[in-house]
Amino acid sequence: MANAEAPLVEMRNIEKFYGRIHALRGVNLSIKKGEIVGLLGDNGAGKSTLIKVLSGAVPYTSGEISIKGRPVKLKTTNDAINAGIETIYQDSALVPQLSIARNLFLGRELRKGSKFLDWMDQEEMNRVASELLLRVGITKNIPPTTPIGSLSGGERQAVAIARAMYFDSDIIILDEPTNNLGVAETQGVLQFVRDARDSGHSCIFIAHNIHHVFQVVDRMVVMRRGEIVADDLNPKTCSIQDVEDVITGEYVAV
Ligand SMILES: Nc1ncnc2c1ncn2[C@@H]1O[C@H](COP(=O)(O)OP(=O)(O)OP(=O)(O)O)[C@@H](O)[C@H]1O
Ligand SMILES: [Mg+2]
Repeated sequence: MANAEAPLVEMRNIEKFYGRIHALRGVNLSIKKGEIVGLLGDNGAGKSTLIKVLSGAVPYTSGEISIKGRPVKLKTTNDAINAGIETIYQDSALVPQLSIARNLFLGRELRKGSKFLDWMDQEEMNRVASELLLRVGITKNIPPTTPIGSLSGGERQAVAIARAMYFDSDIIILDEPTNNLGVAETQGVLQFVRDARDSGHSCIFIAHNIHHVFQVVDRMVVMRRGEIVADDLNPKTCSIQDVEDVITGEYVAV
């Protein structure tokens, strides 16, 4: 049974080995509903591995994961999607050759007709796609039939976020969504994160640019060498320097 009191996501004592590399060491992390969490750490700290475990993309060696108080085994990315976890990478989640609308509904296409004459409902998908593009702030009139490959990095990011919103994922994971984006596009992505929170979604936001993280998150979690070394840094009371010191190990947070 889903438990309303339980955290949305709870990871307990997660260990991950890639061969002999100990990428996650006894990681405990819990995320509440509607919380925006920044995940920080130097290159190789284990951030992407942690979110890949949570999105079912890589198997973990041991540990437990519960979603809304219910133990889950996330063996595939579909298991995670079905548990309400949507992960957005800069490019890889979308298929450049397919249209915006097809990408939005990839793997979950709307159907019409009978059991015997089963068609994709292209018209309805295009209609919903146009509406969603407006909702995530793409006010330029981009037809939903446009291939993803001809959109800018920020616009692609918007499409991926629109998908997470439409399918009403409980938690949206963004791994370095602002990398290689221009100033306006970056502001767009940060605004989507705020909007996601306003509509009750949780987010895990990974970015090397601490300024971006500070602008949107409620709480910051820092990893170093596979361990979580701080899990409740508040952007309202910490300075950027404090957080940098925790990341580099100059300062050990309690
Ligand atoms: N597929 C893999 N096979 C072997 N080792 C891996 C694999 N993926 C990651 N690692 C190793 O696991 C450790 C954690 O890597 P991870 O990608 O999670 O770090 P990260 O915090 O996301 O770093 P970055 O900020 O550079 O993206 C590193 O030592 C990395 O080399
Ligand atoms: Mg990474």
